[in-house]
Amino acid sequence: PLIIYKSHDGSTQEVHAETGTSIMQAAVDNGIDGILGECGGCCSCATCHCYIDPAWVAKVSPADSTETDMLDCVLEPQETSRLSCQVIITDEMDGIVIAMPESQY
Ligand code: FES
Repeated sequence: PLIIYKSHDGSTQEVHAETGTSIMQAAVDNGIDGILGECGGCCSCATCHCYIDPAWVAKVSPADSTETDMLDCVLEPQETSRLSCQVIITDEMDGIVIAMPESQY
């Protein structure tokens, strides 16, 4: 599926990601700035914080309680905040737009 990463200045980068990988892993593998993924995806660093474009939220499975607890401590939280290591890419997400917080640049 096509994943569109949008930086805080509005510029976008497109990545063709594998189904079953995470939004964080696809970003790291493709050198996307703004998603670090320091803990390697085990939901403990929050350096993979992102915002799901509101138009796409329904296509994404909801956060579990571990992730929700971590989201309580991120900088610049928004309604559609997620930890991108916990968002697994599905075929339905083709064209999804993921924005990154300014604090991660
Ligand atoms: Fe560390 Fe997502 S990569 S919480």
